[in-house]
Amino acid sequence: MYRIREIDGHDDEIADTLTDLHRLTFFDGAPIPKFDHGHWWLALHEAVPIAFAGVVPSTRALNAGYFCRVGVLRKHRGRALQLRLMRALESRARRNGWSSVISDTTENLASANNFIRAGYWLYHPSCPWGYPNTLYWRKFIK
Ligand SMILES: CC(C)(COP(=O)(O)OP(=O)(O)OC[C@H]1O[C@@H](n2cnc3c(N)ncnc32)[C@H](O)[C@@H]1OP(=O)(O)O)[C@@H](O)C(=O)NCCC(=O)NCCS
Repeated sequence: MYRIREIDGHDDEIADTLTDLHRLTFFDGAPIPKFDHGHWWLALHEAVPIAFAGVVPSTRALNAGYFCRVGVLRKHRGRALQLRLMRALESRARRNGWSSVISDTTENLASANNFIRAGYWLYHPSCPWGYPNTLYWRKFIK
């Protein structure tokens, strides 16, 4: 049984939890984001946080959210938690009045497959921000 909950990244304890989950899922692979910016979610298993995700206003696309992070602890992978977190995030994007959600993956088949499952399309941003092999994803929100 997993529950997804939107949480307040301004809260110090929550920010600590997000930082721990970030370290355990990304190690040194990505900088720790500012959790007091944007919207953040936790997935809980028996009240214990085991996954997280975040979206921030995009600085690259007009009126869009940038899905900036998702991480699931290894023991809990394979249970479609990225997909569930993406649904929560898209519902927030709709309520924000954003017209799309954009994101990127670099050599990450599991995550890229989840973008496909969730109905995202590959696209070419006018100013790509990743590596030469980064894939860019976009979904228009109705
Ligand atoms: C990417 C990530 C969030 C996906 O987690 P998830 O929601 O559990 O993903 P899924 O449920 O789709 O499972 C992923 C795959 O692992 C397989 N899997 C099943 N059990 C698993 C287990 N115990 N451990 C690892 N993978 C498992 C699934 O079958 C699935 O394969 P498929 O895509 O062929 O169906 C997770 O791998 C992760 O946290 N990675 C590290 C951080 C990261 O890379 N974030 C994304 C940056 S773009």
